[in-house]
Amino acid sequence: MKSIADRVAGIAESKSIKLAAVVNQLRREGQKVIGLNVGEPDFDTPSPIVEATRQALKEGRTRYSLVEGIEELRQAICARHNDLHTKKMTSKNVLISNGSKQILYNIFQTLVNPGDEVIIPIPYWVTFPESVRLAGGIPVYVETRKNQLDLAAIEKAITPNTKVVIINSPNNPSGAVYSEADLRQLAELAKKHDFYVISDEAYEAILFDGLKPVHMGSFSEDAFERTISVQSFSKNYCMTGFRLGYMLASEKIISAVSKLQGHLTGNNCTFAQYGALQALQMDQKIIKDMVALMQKRRDLAFDLFSQIFPDMEKPQGAFYLWPNVSKMIAGKYADDIAFAEFILREAGVAILPGSAFGSPGYLRICYAPSENEIREGFEKIKSVL
Ligand SMILES: Cc1ncc(COP(=O)(O)O)c(C=O)c1O
Repeated sequence: MKSIADRVAGIAESKSIKLAAVVNQLRREGQKVIGLNVGEPDFDTPSPIVEATRQALKEGRTRYSLVEGIEELRQAICARHNDLHTKKMTSKNVLISNGSKQILYNIFQTLVNPGDEVIIPIPYWVTFPESVRLAGGIPVYVETRKNQLDLAAIEKAITPNTKVVIINSPNNPSGAVYSEADLRQLAELAKKHDFYVISDEAYEAILFDGLKPVHMGSFSEDAFERTISVQSFSKNYCMTGFRLGYMLASEKIISAVSKLQGHLTGNNCTFAQYGALQALQMDQKIIKDMVALMQKRRDLAFDLFSQIFPDMEKPQGAFYLWPNVSKMIAGKYADDIAFAEFILREAGVAILPGSAFGSPGYLRICYAPSENEIREGFEKIKSVL
């Protein structure tokens, strides 16, 4: 039999999706597994969103729509983001896709030529390097300092082939939120060395301790032209299954991505887009309450888990703890993967090893499940350590 194309043979399977499959299998076999691995809130999709989607189906909004997405939704997105932007966007600055995963794929395919370098701070979300490789690009990794951007390390990694720096704040897996000062410095570097910045803001609404979102594209005209903001309805509105993400960028980039998407998927599911429109138009107190509850879970999870994993920064966004466990595993377990497997086997708790995110010696613990599951997961892990 002839082989699978190099393009796909050369990329790694998503380690988080792989672990989720193992957990499902164990559950089918009757084992109880506490899942602190899957990155999605356990809240139901807010009912106004579900109702609006149902209504759209009833009204027959079941046809193709514009490749970039329905005009009403793109305008509502602009209205929301224009509050934060000095440059006012129009629907021509917005494109909707099947989740921000597809947005990232689209952007790398659109911007990156074979041999172009993409700088990725560590830890990174699992899909970044593979998306870069699928476009023939070369991922170039740089360390962070206490999970914050290290601008000096980024500048050192820049070469004439640097096309893009990709950042993600609030960060998966570390929960870090990058400071405005660092983002401004990155915008300056982008201008000085002429590269694009992809800013993955999939967890934009899930910010704690009174923090507010900051958009690099709002800093200046130049920053706007260079920044591609990647957004998602998945985590912010509990709509992971709707598969709705979008990008904000210059008209030049949007029309190039639209050309590509026109041959890939065309538009995103039409009636789901009406659900997303309602997500932006409904009373935002629903989301504020959800974030307040998530902050409570953060406090609970951080207080509990720092008793057993003390080497950890307090996360300020998203829904992950990111302890450094390298000292704990030294001499006892082969690596963080073996440690996470031990915890799954002995404690029946699923968490992810840091190597999935480019950081061996760490663990990612998701605290999006209920408070009871967080407590139970903690007690079970504590009892086997
Ligand atoms: C940092 C980050 N970006 C993007 C995504 C993709 O989300 P979606 O495709 O559901 O919009 C995820 C999902 O886990 C993520 O953690």
